[in-house]
Amino acid sequence: ALISMRQMLDHAAEHGYGVPAFNVNNLEQTRAIMEAAAETNSPVIMQASAGARKYAGAPFLRHMIAAAIEEFPDIPVVMHQDHGVSPAVCQRSIQLGFSSVMMDGSLGEDGKTPMDYDYNVRVTRQAVEMAHACGVSVEGELGCLGSLETGEAGEEDGIGAAGKLTHDQMLTDPDEAADFVAATGVDALAIACGTSHGAYKFTRPPTGDILAIDRIRDIHARIPNTHLVMHGSSSVPQDWLAIINEFGGKIPETYGVPVEQIQEGIRHGVRKVNIDTDLRLASTGAIRRFMAENPSEFDPRKYLAHSIKAMKEICIARYQAFGTAGWA
Ligand code: G3H
Ligand code: 13P
Ligand code: NA
Ligand code: ZN
Repeated sequence: ALISMRQMLDHAAEHGYGVPAFNVNNLEQTRAIMEAAAETNSPVIMQASAGARKYAGAPFLRHMIAAAIEEFPDIPVVMHQDHGVSPAVCQRSIQLGFSSVMMDGSLGEDGKTPMDYDYNVRVTRQAVEMAHACGVSVEGELGCLGSLETGEAGEEDGIGAAGKLTHDQMLTDPDEAADFVAATGVDALAIACGTSHGAYKFTRPPTGDILAIDRIRDIHARIPNTHLVMHGSSSVPQDWLAIINEFGGKIPETYGVPVEQIQEGIRHGVRKVNIDTDLRLASTGAIRRFMAENPSEFDPRKYLAHSIKAMKEICIARYQAFGTAGWA
């Protein structure tokens, strides 16, 4: 059944678990997520980015998620729009039937320019008024994702600030967060704590100086009733990097957010955990390996089945690690 994000995250808060929010662009990701959820009895958040809408088209994404709900009627599903850059973008998604939208007013309509606090409050408030009138939930964002090591936002072609960010911009301020939630009425708040989008988050396994999970604890202490969201939460599995590189890939040394750090976040109010890159890496590794080992195969279903299996294993591991399993 399609439910709002507010309903799902209220339940998660009541029972102390987190929900991975996986990005979807195609059938294989959608199947991997749903089969993993069915096997572990987990509620599901599927989210579509602007890049996904460009790749697959909004109608295909919408009907693919509707198909998932039809095939797995017992699993609660949130259909979420990731990183909306304006109230107009959110309005379009609401019209299409999304049950939740993100209004990311931390960046301008180009998805690149860091914006000031007053702009963020204004556009987020506007999105909340519109969405709540339709029974749709809203996720806002305060602070900019970026590397505390380099000051870079990370993602080159997706959503992410252009140019250098200051240390303060990359760590959400707890008092400002309290003010923001009161002023906008958001259902969930994405915070910045040193994570960034994409595979290149950290040049070494992260320690507290470059991944500030403590900041989440401080924000949660200030606004205990607000559902917190962690973006850029892929763990960048070293085993998949090794497989990609073994079979012709070329990905330099890089590290993601350890699952134990996400679990620490979940103990301090994180209820939605955004993951895209991990499924991309697993899919690419599985396909590279299959292609290398089966050079005469040309039926896409053969290698895409391996892509599904690899992504599904990641989904199952996250549902179990975040305490989502058993709550569908
Ligand atoms: O926001 C970042 C997600 O990983 C989506 O990326 O815009 O390439 O689909 P995308
Ligand atoms: P990753 O790139 O770490 O998977 O993050 C995805 C994300 O935050 C989507 O909004
Ligand atoms: Na989002
Ligand atoms: Zn994000």
